[in-house]
Amino acid sequence: MKKISMLLIALFLLNACVKQTKPESLYDQLGGAPTIDLITKNLLDRILNNEKIAFLFKETVREDLHEKIVSQLCQETGGPCVYEGLDMVEAHSGQEIKYSEFDVFVEDLILAMEDANVPFTLQNKFLAIFAPMREDVTYQ
Ligand code: HEM
Repeated sequence: MKKISMLLIALFLLNACVKQTKPESLYDQLGGAPTIDLITKNLLDRILNNEKIAFLFKETVREDLHEKIVSQLCQETGGPCVYEGLDMVEAHSGQEIKYSEFDVFVEDLILAMEDANVPFTLQNKFLAIFAPMREDVTYQ
């Protein structure tokens, strides 16, 4: 009887532990900092050389933008970072970015994730976070 009680208590505690385990963040599912850094590098390689949108970045210092994008992607995917750059409206105001240019950027983002071997399901989770920013980034 005592053994059964102990077993029940152990099962109860195990169950409580399992329930309290937080779901893994997208940041962790992606592989954390090295993957975020690689996606950002791949993205910048593409957008800074994509003739459809590169002209928008002619004043850009690559290292600065890299750092800011890493920090934002990290924060938004649930990683241990605090993005301290401009908000998306401020960062893109005055640039008159069109929907078609936003779409080119997203295509490059998808390719950047492909190049980093991010699985399709995680790519979709990633896009679901950033696609709603379209109205803040594009010209209004
Ligand atoms: C969801 C999509 C996007 C995200 C998450 C994003 C993120 C960022 C971030 C974090 C910054 C830096 C802000 C700061 O200076 O504090 C930035 C700047 C900028 N973004 Fe975006 N962006 C997005 C879409 C786009 C698109 C579609 C374009 C153009 C096609 C674009 C062009 C630029 C440019 C030109 C800058 C200024 C870079 C500089 O400081 O020289 N962004 N963006």
